[in-house]
Amino acid sequence: MRYILGIDLGTGSMKGLIIDEMANIVDSYSIKYPTFHSQKGYSEQRPLDWLGAFDKIINYFNKNILNFKENLEGISFSGQMHSLVLLDENQKILRNSILWNDVRTSKEVDYLKNKYGELIISETKNIPLEGFTLPKLLWVKNNEPDIWKKIEYILLPKDYLRLYLTNDYSMDYSDASGTLLLNLNDKDWSEQILDILELKKNKMPHLVESTQYIGNISKTIADRLNINKNVKIFAGGADNACSSLGVGIIDKNIGMLSIGTSGVILGLSDDSLLDKKSHNFYHILRDTKYSMGVTLSAGSSLDWIKEKLCEDISYEELFNLVKESDIGSNGLIFTPFLIGERTPYNDSSIRGAFIGLDISHNKSDMLRAVVEGITFSLYSCYKSIGADYKSIVSIGGGAKNEVWLQIQADIFGKDIHKISIEEGPAFGAAIIASVGLHKFKDFSEALTVGIKTEKIIKPNMILHSKYEKIYKIYSEIYENTSYLSKKILEIK
Ligand code: XUL
Repeated sequence: MRYILGIDLGTGSMKGLIIDEMANIVDSYSIKYPTFHSQKGYSEQRPLDWLGAFDKIINYFNKNILNFKENLEGISFSGQMHSLVLLDENQKILRNSILWNDVRTSKEVDYLKNKYGELIISETKNIPLEGFTLPKLLWVKNNEPDIWKKIEYILLPKDYLRLYLTNDYSMDYSDASGTLLLNLNDKDWSEQILDILELKKNKMPHLVESTQYIGNISKTIADRLNINKNVKIFAGGADNACSSLGVGIIDKNIGMLSIGTSGVILGLSDDSLLDKKSHNFYHILRDTKYSMGVTLSAGSSLDWIKEKLCEDISYEELFNLVKESDIGSNGLIFTPFLIGERTPYNDSSIRGAFIGLDISHNKSDMLRAVVEGITFSLYSCYKSIGADYKSIVSIGGGAKNEVWLQIQADIFGKDIHKISIEEGPAFGAAIIASVGLHKFKDFSEALTVGIKTEKIIKPNMILHSKYEKIYKIYSEIYENTSYLSKKILEIK
């Protein structure tokens, strides 16, 4: 049996997933690494920890899979997006990586929006946000001039790992578009945006397609890790692009709804649909873009209410309580803006609310309102993308309970697909390597073999039209509460 390895360099851990030539899952292994928060809003990791995690994953597979060394054929990658890695001329790490969830860059974001807002939207089709790479680079330029002078390599996490394995300095389009330095129409680095940083284009990595064969693993590393030196390395992609690929988002009819700590709705988009409120990036499929909306507190809103109201019960019991309430939570609406909101408001000062609280409301109503509110928030992302998918694949924590899946189907008014095995972005990365190795004719063939739908949840269209009426009220809450949230923050 020949083996293909997908590596997901995530925020909390690195996951390695082995598939065979028919895209069957053979084994997986994860290693955690620390994140450092030295000041409020800071979030950093040490790139050397990622290399250590990679070594440990390879050692695990070497020990646990028979003849792994001889049979590993290819590797590709998925990675946390936007996080900045800086190296000097000797490829020495200049500072810790500033992660996508580090929000120290508010001043830089305001500056970029005020001075270059139009230029950035027209070049990149995205608005500057704290999480993106461009404001992070500007922060280093403004605050760490000694480091800035020494920069020779600008990378994202998985590209740094690939540089370590092959000595190739490249970045694929799906991750490059998340830097906010790529012109999305020209598919090239934007010289006008690089000018803002006084950076020359020749400092940037060369741009490649996700399935691009980069080279073989370096002999020194192959010898040290006891793997075959003919292992082929393929470029890979951004984690959101890889996870959507891994659940079959390869045509415009099907979208992905992922509810974890945060929530994501994502689908392939026409250029005409690229809108200022959502994120617009390149997908893994060549010359294809996707639009994505993000709810910052999705699963975390549910965790929050559970902790406050019913810490001791299981999630299954919690959803039994949700079921006891009625559609619309008996007149209660919740907005999940617990840490501000990304899509469609991009507002870090908005905060959540329960609207319509009545003396008759009970625990079930409050829990249901939170579940519905999270789903409404993702529905508003969907509306802002302007998409109209025929069906939606639901993944993550939000796909674990039948009651929530039905609420998703009823609010979106769409068929919701639940897939049987979810291996996340590492599966997408492994599929990229399989296609790169020509194990399949194309992604469509690979995914027909690799994805199994466990269940399709049909919407109740009568409930959907009721939900549409409630959603209309939900969508008016932001403009009627945002000024109040700002005032409250000022008093604090
Ligand atoms: C996307 C984003 C996150 C990271 C997580 O814009 O910031 O989803 O990709 O790794």
